[in-house]
Amino acid sequence: MIALEGLTKRYGEKVAVNNLTFEVRPGIVTGFLGPNGAGKSTTMRMILGLDHPTSGAVRIEGRRYAELRDPLRTIGALLDANANHGGRSAYHHLLCLAQSNGLPERRVREVLDVVGLSAVARKKAKGFSMGMGQRLGIAAALLGDPRILMFDEPVNGLDPEGIHWIRTLMQRLAAEGRTVFVSSHLMSEMALTAEHLVVIGQGRLLADLSMADFIQRNSRAYVRVRTPERERFLDVLRSAGLTAMETGGTLELDGVAAEQVGELAARHGLVLHELSPQQASLEEAFMRLTAESVEYHAHSDTPPAGERAPWGADWKKG
Ligand SMILES: Nc1ncnc2c1ncn2[C@@H]1O[C@H](COP(=O)(O)OP(=O)(O)OP(=O)(O)O)[C@@H](O)[C@H]1O
Ligand SMILES: [Mg+2]
Repeated sequence: MIALEGLTKRYGEKVAVNNLTFEVRPGIVTGFLGPNGAGKSTTMRMILGLDHPTSGAVRIEGRRYAELRDPLRTIGALLDANANHGGRSAYHHLLCLAQSNGLPERRVREVLDVVGLSAVARKKAKGFSMGMGQRLGIAAALLGDPRILMFDEPVNGLDPEGIHWIRTLMQRLAAEGRTVFVSSHLMSEMALTAEHLVVIGQGRLLADLSMADFIQRNSRAYVRVRTPERERFLDVLRSAGLTAMETGGTLELDGVAAEQVGELAARHGLVLHELSPQQASLEEAFMRLTAESVEYHAHSDTPPAGERAPWGADWKKG
């Protein structure tokens, strides 16, 4: 388990990580989400003891990273896929790591096999594609067969096959009872991978909840209607005790099934040009949640998806 308590990191005036307290539990994949610059990588570097917190603390199975007797066997991490020696082969890169951590050579061959790099094990890493580099980084994280795994944006730059492979791997590692902590700024990807979510924005904790709760609170279902007889349709709705929200030429109805709306319209001989059940995406929910904490965004003519308040009033658990 990883436990953060009041973890804070300042760079001069900038508060990169602001008083984060949460736990990452074993047996599930925990997604660590936030917009660019939210503080995800800084938090992960502090977990590994690569950055010193300004205040607060991180414990890995109850100890600071520096106090771990067997760090590679306890926690494996992929923070930067380019963190290897380009002139060395994949095999020798991993062998160096293994030898300096008292791990057998057999383990190098095993992890090369797990990540599918056995065939190119003797090739120099500088010739590797982005996806091969990610795989090598993951092999290094798995080397010590650690109980805790941490990946910073592991699917960056990967093709669909690579993304699918990483997703399956993370879920398998979690199913083996390991703690899996993985960052991303893509909600849609996390929705398929993680069972629990920790969301931060500008260094602060915005949400710490299960994916099921996130979906339940945010999957707003509604019916979209377009009709050339708008006024009469609204009257009919009113008399049936229903209300509609108008958005740019279409009407949105909450709390009613499309069938019910269609039958109501038919009874009154109303013409409909559209009648469709809709579901707000998790991506939209994530954008609303983090809208105010997005630091770097492009100028756009379309209004941001963050204009409405999140439907879930209380995002943090407890
Ligand atoms: N060494 C540093 N010196 C100064 N500022 C830093 C340093 N490292 C990070 N920061 C700042 O801290 C903030 C958090 O950065 P961090 O890299 O942790 O964000 P992130 O959530 O990982 O973003 P991304 O999704 O883009 O990877 C940013 O504003 C960044 O500019
Ligand atoms: Mg980062």
